[in-house]
Parts: sequence; structure tokens; C-alpha cells
Amino acid sequence: MSNEKVNRVVLIGTGAVGCSYAYSLINQGVVEELVLIDVNEAKSEGEAMDLNHGMPFAPSPTKVWNGSYKDCEGADLVVITAGLAQKPGETRLQLVEKNTKIFKQIVAQIMENNFNGIFLVATNPVDILTYVTYKESGLPKERVIGSGTVLDSARLRFALGQYFNIDTRNVHAAIIGEHGDTELPVWSHAFIGVRPLETILAAKKDVKKECLEDIFVNVRDAAYQIIERKGATFYGIGMSLVRITKAILNNENSILTVSSYLDGEYGHKDVYVGVPSIINRSGIREIIKIDLNEKETEQFNHSVSVLKETMNSGISS
Ligand SMILES: NC(=O)c1ccc[n+]([C@@H]2O[C@H](COP(=O)([O-])OP(=O)(O)OC[C@H]3O[C@@H](n4cnc5c(N)ncnc54)[C@H](O)[C@@H]3O)[C@@H](O)[C@H]2O)c1
Repeated sequence: MSNEKVNRVVLIGTGAVGCSYAYSLINQGVVEELVLIDVNEAKSEGEAMDLNHGMPFAPSPTKVWNGSYKDCEGADLVVITAGLAQKPGETRLQLVEKNTKIFKQIVAQIMENNFNGIFLVATNPVDILTYVTYKESGLPKERVIGSGTVLDSARLRFALGQYFNIDTRNVHAAIIGEHGDTELPVWSHAFIGVRPLETILAAKKDVKKECLEDIFVNVRDAAYQIIERKGATFYGIGMSLVRITKAILNNENSILTVSSYLDGEYGHKDVYVGVPSIINRSGIREIIKIDLNEKETEQFNHSVSVLKETMNSGISS
């Protein structure tokens, strides 16, 4: 083995979400090594073969192989997308008990192999499973990150971009809270380009507040709508995970609404929830405290209390 330091990501779970992530990671040339692990070994082996066959057309080489938990030693990032997905009509929180059991086994095997990098969790309910990963791994809170409301914020930015006919990359708006039914849009701090959304609303009579409410409801319920049509959601989350991976491995200090551990921020403790956070090579550098208005504060507090209730009943067993 050479002494050269290369970036290694270990992906646990090569289902629809995991493979969308892997495919996007390779196509963006983000890492030198990508290890695939799945309880269904034939599946991860087949995925590694298939992904490798696209390598002549990738922007830079990625060494991809079907590995084992031993490969976690020295890995920079472990991304977990393993577990059960939502069935039609099932909420993310209903998945909690089943996926907590799976996570306890997975995290134990990773830590037995001296993993000392950063965890990125996407499996639902993501805020709760990120908490489980934090507790089971014993790693510092900064190095255990959930995908949180990064995808939801992307959905909101896309929808607002469509509505105002502005490049979605110039739309700055965040969804915070639980990645799920109690999440909320932070309209008070949303910008289209450099103009606050609230200023646009005040000036433009043809933009109605109700339209924004419809946009948010569609964002919040997007997963249900997609699952109803195609059975699962995976491209959006795959690209969201790549965005977070790049923020970490490239030491970007990017602001993303990942699921972060609150230790007094926003008046809450001992819970993972989606809030804007600065992400770099050390993980979560800092949680950004937004000055929420009264309604947003109330909604955020409600979201945290729903998460805590579910956590208390769902992960103790
Ligand atoms: N965070 C988000 O924004 C977001 C978005 C979409 C989906 N998800 C979640 O991602 C998860 C995966 O969804 P999916 O569509 O890829 O599901 P999937 O069923 O296609 O894939 C899950 C994979 O996990 C593997 N697996 C199960 N138990 C395992 C174990 N103990 N060890 C290793 N691998 C194991 C399965 O074999 C399967 O390949 C779900 O929980 C889903 O709800 C999250």
C-alpha cells in the first residue's frame, strides 16, 4: 500500500439512495476511493462492477470496490443510507424502531474497525438515526452529521426559482426542523438574489402569500408525492449527499441545513435537527442561529418536541 493520503468514502447501503449518491459522486470526481457495503453482498458487488465500467468517462478516477467493515479503518467519511425505506403512506417517524435496530448493528461494526472520521447519515427518520449514530459511535458531535433538511431546502429553492423564473442557485431559502412533516420554511430570511422575499411580497401585488404557502406544502409533501408515483425518492438526496461530502472533504466552510446536535442553540439540548450549519473538514464547525420570528420559533419548537417524543418512545428498545 502506498503512503499517499487519498480521500476514502465508505458507503453503507447500496440501495436506490446509496447508488444515486455513488453515481453522482463518481460523475463529479469527488473522491479517490469509494467502498460499497451492503447486507446484500451480491447487490453491492454488482453495483461496484457497474459503476467501474463508467470510469473511462468520469472527470477523474475513483477506485470503487465491494468492501467490508475493515475498510472503515482510515476512511475519511462513512455515509449511511442502509435500512428500510418509507412505504406508501408511511411517515418517516414510523420507521424509527426498525431502522434504529439496524443502525446499532452497523455503527458497532464500523467502530470495531477503529473508524475515526466523519459520519454522514441519510436513512430515515434521519434526525433520530443521526442521534443514534452519535450515541452509539461515541464520536464528537461535530463529526456526526445528518442530511437533515438539505434536500427539503433544495426543493424549496427549486420551487421558488420556478415561481419567480430565477436561477435556483440564486435563491437562498431554508427549511429547518425535522426532515419530515413538522419542518418549516424560514420565510423571514429568504432571498431571491439579493432581495428579501418579504420586500418582494410587499412591493408586488401579484405575488400572494397563499402561493408561498402552496409552494411550502408541496415541498413538505414532495416525498409522499414522488413515492406515490415511482415508489421511492433518490436522485435529489443522492446529489444533496454529494454536496455535503464536498463541503466536508474540500474544507469548504459551506452553510447547509444539515441535521446538527443542539447543545443549547435555539433553546434546545440533546437533539439532532436541521439547522443552518457551517460545514468543513472537521465536520460541523458552527451552528448558525437565525433570528426566527414568533411564528417560526413556535413551529421550530413544535418540530423539536415531536422529534424528542418519537425518540423517547422509538429508540430505547
Ligand atoms: N434523508 C433524506 O432526505 C432521504 C431521502 C430519501 C430517502 N431516504 C431514506 O434513505 C433510506 C434508504 O432508501 P432507499 O430508497 O435507498 O432504500 P433501498 O431499500 O433501496 O436500500 C436500502 C439498502 O439498505 C440495505 N441494508 C438493509 N439493512 C442493512 C444492513 N444491516 N447493513 C447493510 N445494508 C443494509 C439493503 O440491502 C438495501 O440495499 C431510507 O430510510 C429512506 O427513507 C432519506
